[in-house]
Amino acid sequence: MSPQKAYVTTPIYYVNDVPHIGHAYTTIIADTMARYYRLKGYDTFFLTGTDEHGQKIEEAAKVRNRTPQEYANEISGKFKSLWDEFDISYDKFIRTTDTEHKQGVQKAFEKMFDNGDIYKGEYEGHYCVSCETFFTDTQLIDENLCPDCGKETRVVKEESYFFRLSDYQEKLLNWYEDEKCVLPKGKKNEVISFVKQGLRDLSITRTSFDWGIKLPPKMDDEKHVMYVWLDALLNYITALGYGTDEKNMKYWPATVQLVGKDILRFHAIYWPAFLMSLGLPLPKHVAAHGWWTRNGEKMSKSKGNVVNPKEVADAYGLENFRYFLLREVPFGQDGDFSQKALIDRINSDLSNELGNLLNRIIGMSSKYSNFQVSSKDVLAYHEKELLTAMEHLKIAEINLNELQTNRFLEELWKTLTIANQSITIYEPWVKIKNNEKDFALATVAMVANILAKVSVLLHPVMPKTTSKIAKALNFDINNDSYVKFIENNDLLNDFVIQKVPPLFPKIENELLVTPNPSEKIVKTEEDSLITIDKFFQTKLKIGTIIEAKEVPKSKKLLKLQVDLGDDKPRQIVAGIKEYYTPESLLNTQICVVSNLKPAKIMGLLSEGMLLAAKDENGLSLIRPENKKQNGSSVG
Ligand code: MSP
Repeated sequence: MSPQKAYVTTPIYYVNDVPHIGHAYTTIIADTMARYYRLKGYDTFFLTGTDEHGQKIEEAAKVRNRTPQEYANEISGKFKSLWDEFDISYDKFIRTTDTEHKQGVQKAFEKMFDNGDIYKGEYEGHYCVSCETFFTDTQLIDENLCPDCGKETRVVKEESYFFRLSDYQEKLLNWYEDEKCVLPKGKKNEVISFVKQGLRDLSITRTSFDWGIKLPPKMDDEKHVMYVWLDALLNYITALGYGTDEKNMKYWPATVQLVGKDILRFHAIYWPAFLMSLGLPLPKHVAAHGWWTRNGEKMSKSKGNVVNPKEVADAYGLENFRYFLLREVPFGQDGDFSQKALIDRINSDLSNELGNLLNRIIGMSSKYSNFQVSSKDVLAYHEKELLTAMEHLKIAEINLNELQTNRFLEELWKTLTIANQSITIYEPWVKIKNNEKDFALATVAMVANILAKVSVLLHPVMPKTTSKIAKALNFDINNDSYVKFIENNDLLNDFVIQKVPPLFPKIENELLVTPNPSEKIVKTEEDSLITIDKFFQTKLKIGTIIEAKEVPKSKKLLKLQVDLGDDKPRQIVAGIKEYYTPESLLNTQICVVSNLKPAKIMGLLSEGMLLAAKDENGLSLIRPENKKQNGSSVG
């Protein structure tokens, strides 16, 4: 019989930012699950990678004067090296700029089109570049702010291909009947109510920028590139060779697809709909975790409060950090990162309970039996403790299978408590004095057996540390020991215990310097300083408004023709209608950013941006004090 298969995925990370604790969290949970399935003997495939297309990346590269590909190469490399340093056991690191991925995406597009799920139309609405998401008027906050991240959205009106998402509403609701398809349950309920409000067809191509996968040649429509979320979601199957070399498609459907709560909608609505359109089975679990905050605040570069996972791992130990991330917050809820909480976990859970247990076994067996440990009398004296321990270990595994990592670890620690308490209750040193040596040695061996079983199940979270514990107990952690100690509930063979250096030295003080708020501000300002060369990359010019008209149906926009001293005037669409009438602007001079990439605003081409200052009293255009020649430069 061929072994059961498992396929675990992380989201693919945007390359507009370097890895932070949030990325590390998702990846470490996924790595834990992949290691757990391998331990159980499953034929496992674990995927991670980077999401490299889209307007956000194109713009991030441009600001840095790099091509999107160069920039993507650099940041993708940073993710890969961090995961390598963190010993993340991925089987494939996919990049959406990989040729096979692009081919697979085009194949999928073709298939969806042939099925009648894709049609051509025109998209008109708002787009948030930061979230790479389309929004309707009613979804926006304060008319133009993104409901997810709060940043300004852009009005987009362009030809687009659409995916018939609305056709999948009922099919999706049927899928949600499967109790564990979306975890945790509370998050699934949010998805269900969203879908019940009605799904609109999804715009899946863009024409206003280039950095994306082209449509399949068969479509013969050069000006479109794929919407980045269609491109990105398909990575989960193109990584298995979908549309190219399909030999790894045997791993599909995924066992667990890990995501953060912010991107659950894409994974629990769009993704299953795309899969149904492709005629592929749906993932077994899409599991959404919460967010890490710092002192209760969202992390952001401007606040200077982003937690760098490498710094934390270097200071406190990678596996201690892994344990903390998985233990500290209930899966699905937000958690606050603090060094104090991390130190508490290391000192109490790891050092006092886990590490100390091993020390006590070594100490007692050195005194009573010259380091010999034998399980021969364990069942006679301690069957009850072993049975209770096994019950906790069973519950632990049930929790892990539902991604409840904190409850999983809690159950393992309950088992350790049984062992630690047994030493206090049975006092082997008293038994030795009372000539009950068999009893005393059985207690030591029972504790060693509990520690062995916990080490096996803890292995996916702390692979190196648990291997050291297992070595001291004279076994290796692998599928054989999982079957022996967990599935069959066998006991350790007689062995001579090995001494090990302390696994979890106590930590007295915080090891990382936390910037104080005033330092933070100075740092942020310094970070945002630019060189004179950078400034001169922005070309500012004086121009005269020679025509000004209202944009029909828009409360905010005016369409201006501005003479910048060139052969023909520039068209600039500006949100100043609430402050200026078209007549009052005619023949006045303004200051314009003249080298801005043209953009379409409500379907109108805008070839620049005018400068204005705004406060609570309104908005004023920035103008020269005296008349200047059109086209004169500002700087
Ligand atoms: N590129 C998309 C995913 C495409 S998957 C087909 C994306 N990338 S991301 O880099 O912005 O985010 C990746 C993951 O990191 C998400 O699951 C997100 O929830 C997670 N986190 C980002 N910041 C986080 C925290 N502060 N805390 C926990 N996780 C958060 O979205």
